[in-house]
Amino acid sequence: MTMNKNQKLKQYAEDLRQAFFEAELLSYKVTNYFDIYARLFSHLRGEDCLFVETGVANGGSLMMWRKWLGPKARIIGIDMNPNAKKFEELGFQIIIGDQGSRNFWKECSAQIKDFDVFLDDGGHQSFQQIVTFEEVSTMTNYGQLVIEDTCTSRLEEFSDHASYSFLDYAKALTEVLVARDVCLYPNDFYKILNTEFVRKMAHLDSITFFPGMVAFNIDAQSDPAPELIWNRKPSNIEHDYRYHGVSSAEIEWPDPYSSSRCVEVRGKQN
Ligand SMILES: C[S@@+](CC[C@H](N)C(=O)[O-])C[C@H]1O[C@@H](n2cnc3c(N)ncnc32)[C@H](O)[C@@H]1O
Repeated sequence: MTMNKNQKLKQYAEDLRQAFFEAELLSYKVTNYFDIYARLFSHLRGEDCLFVETGVANGGSLMMWRKWLGPKARIIGIDMNPNAKKFEELGFQIIIGDQGSRNFWKECSAQIKDFDVFLDDGGHQSFQQIVTFEEVSTMTNYGQLVIEDTCTSRLEEFSDHASYSFLDYAKALTEVLVARDVCLYPNDFYKILNTEFVRKMAHLDSITFFPGMVAFNIDAQSDPAPELIWNRKPSNIEHDYRYHGVSSAEIEWPDPYSSSRCVEVRGKQN
């Protein structure tokens, strides 16, 4: 029986769940993560790839990744706890260091550069997650950088970040992607004041928000200045009816931390 794409992904997630339970070393995971990992990483199964994970702890996830990805995957674990070095006996490369320190990333960049996947399951404090994104995302031309357990952006225990949580940072980065469209509408777009930052993030191709995770797709060849193109010389252009329909809507604004609130979102009237 042939499986469709969705069925295949469900099977890969199930394989991963099995690898998790069969791992000889301790680990814990959130139940919905297996489906997300399968969607993000299953193209690497059986491939010669570099998979880096911050947060080794008891070694269980390293074992799980090896079993699921296959013997051709090179797996590097990073942890601040020097005891993690013992997992080198099991064939993993282990780097000891503090992910919150920009210097640490500079020191180990030669070892992790060109990664296919960088998964962060380390300290989970917002500044650590942000520094990791900033320093590591430029270390590959094409790959995925995934920050796990983004719930810490909304946990009291981690709230020292005040309003500068990792999740708020990731949401703000979506503005940087949209800001590239200034090239399409230079006279109409909001004025971009920090062009340097937009340029600095040119390698960021897309951001995907999952429950508990944010995945950044890195592509050093992302087009930083897209253009509008026509498929043929424009003539007899049809009138666009966008301002002829209803001109506003009542919307329930998404905010789990307040009671239900409806706002009127207005449009332009013809
Ligand atoms: C949640 S555990 C990792 C669990 C493991 N990935 C698994 O699924 O089995 C988090 C790990 O991150 C490490 N860690 C905490 N802060 C860190 C930091 N600043 N830099 C590097 N590792 C850190 C901790 O020592 C701990 O081993």
